[in-house]
Amino acid sequence: MIVRRSGKFLLALALLAALGFAGFWLLSMPRPLTAADVPQHTPDLANGERLYHAGGCISCHQPSPDLKDVAANVPAGGAPLVTPVGTLYPKNLTPDPETGIGSWSDLDFLNAVQRGISPEGQHLIPAFPYTSYAHMKPADVLDIRAYLASLPAVKSPQREADVVALPLVRRGIGMWKWVGLDTTPWQPDPTQSDSWNRGSYLVNGPGHCQECHTPRNIFMALDESKAFQGGPHPEGKGRVPSLRGLIERGRYTDAADLASALENGDAMGYDKLSAGGMGQVRRNIAQLPESDIQAIADYIASLK
Ligand code: HEC
Ligand code: HEC
Repeated sequence: MIVRRSGKFLLALALLAALGFAGFWLLSMPRPLTAADVPQHTPDLANGERLYHAGGCISCHQPSPDLKDVAANVPAGGAPLVTPVGTLYPKNLTPDPETGIGSWSDLDFLNAVQRGISPEGQHLIPAFPYTSYAHMKPADVLDIRAYLASLPAVKSPQREADVVALPLVRRGIGMWKWVGLDTTPWQPDPTQSDSWNRGSYLVNGPGHCQECHTPRNIFMALDESKAFQGGPHPEGKGRVPSLRGLIERGRYTDAADLASALENGDAMGYDKLSAGGMGQVRRNIAQLPESDIQAIADYIASLK
């Protein structure tokens, strides 16, 4: 009798576990873009280069220290990126067909950059800020791809991330995406100037400023009710300052002063843009045309 009861109990437990697992499996499935989402588009290399700098791709996809002959500004990947979940090795973005992205389709690229899904259908770890890139115009993302395709191909051996239980973590990211990945395209605000709108796009799309400057909720998703208020550093060490009220608090005299800080940083005595990854962000932004830097400053200066 006891044996039969516990047998039923175990069966019920096994069924529940199977249901739970099936639910997890279904809910964590990749939800990729399809061919219909790839716009008809003639690539614009200059725009691609500009957005590549705005997106700061080189900060994470810099060449591995083992690649001694490869210049530091070639996104050959493989340099370690230490995060709270483990050490990641961002990929080679040059057009090498074996170790880079030379053999990828445009759809593969859009899915990686805007949905965090690899061509093998794996979820990518959101240390790669696709959560911001998801708001970009797909045509702009394809321009970045065209720019990357114009770079010399470099062989750079790829290394899988050093993360405990990586396959399960990747699958879990599929669940997280229900709360953590907002794919709403960026929208202009018709009551604001063209420069402000350009800045809003650069900051919230390619610039991924919120990934560090907006605190996260208990689900590790950006807490938009506290957008740009600063908080703990997402990489685990130190704090990130608020970007609200920078003018009111006297951090900068006006938007032009802020633009000059973003363009020149330390070199002109603006020393609050150097630590915690911000130095690299600033160096990337400094490569944008003056109008884009001013646009970013106009938008940030308007955050009260
Ligand atoms: C803050 C760091 C960071 C920045 C900035 C960044 N990436 Fe990445 N990227 C990563 C990491 C980390 C991975 C690997 C994630 C993983 O292993 O799951 C990755 C993966 C990728 C992949 C997918 C590779 C694959 O194997 O499927 C592509 C494509 C990519 N990045 C392109 C870009 C482009 C284009 C930009 C700039 C617009 C960019 N990245 C900016 C960190 C970054
Ligand atoms: C990798 C994380 C990270 C990203 C991404 C990032 N920031 Fe920062 N930011 C920081 C940190 C950390 C500081 C403080 C740096 C210091 O004290 O030297 C900072 C400082 C700043 C400051 C100075 C604030 C003050 O009080 O003077 C400004 C302005 C700024 N960031 C703007 C931006 C903009 C615009 C973007 C997007 C294009 C951006 N940040 C993206 C981490 C980041």
